[in-house]
Amino acid sequence: MPTFTFDLNGETVTVDVPSDSSLLWVLRDALGVTGPKYGCGVGVCRACTSHLDGAAFQPCTTPVADCAGRAVTTIEGLAAGDTLHPVQQAWIDEDVAQCGFCQPGQIMAAVALLAANPHPTDADIDALENVCRCGTYVRIRRAIHRAAGS
Ligand code: FES
Ligand code: FES
Repeated sequence: MPTFTFDLNGETVTVDVPSDSSLLWVLRDALGVTGPKYGCGVGVCRACTSHLDGAAFQPCTTPVADCAGRAVTTIEGLAAGDTLHPVQQAWIDEDVAQCGFCQPGQIMAAVALLAANPHPTDADIDALENVCRCGTYVRIRRAIHRAAGS
């Protein structure tokens, strides 16, 4: 099988997998990185949302071959050691999570939104397409505003 090398949460990793493997299963099954969740597998629910070269993307629809030589960040790579990312802290402060399944993807989407738009409006936040079956959208909105300092 071919090998693919990429940066994962600040460390170089090499995997030996079929080139059409989706990155989500490479992360979860080959590398044991289970923060990105499997919800739909077709790029719709966004439970797997992570960052590729700093931009939000869906690993479930991204072949591992497309990630070679690039930087992948998952929820596991967001904190700086023991210091939570401000968005993670805002999530705790607003007590956002219910079952929690969608939340890694929600947080990664929020971080990418704030990087592109430091003071998003409610409409900007509501345009995020991450699905939460527990309906935590109001608390997600509050947490993003808190992280933005607005
Ligand atoms: S698992 Fe649903 S978008 Fe990736
Ligand atoms: S917290 Fe349960 S699906 Fe979002």
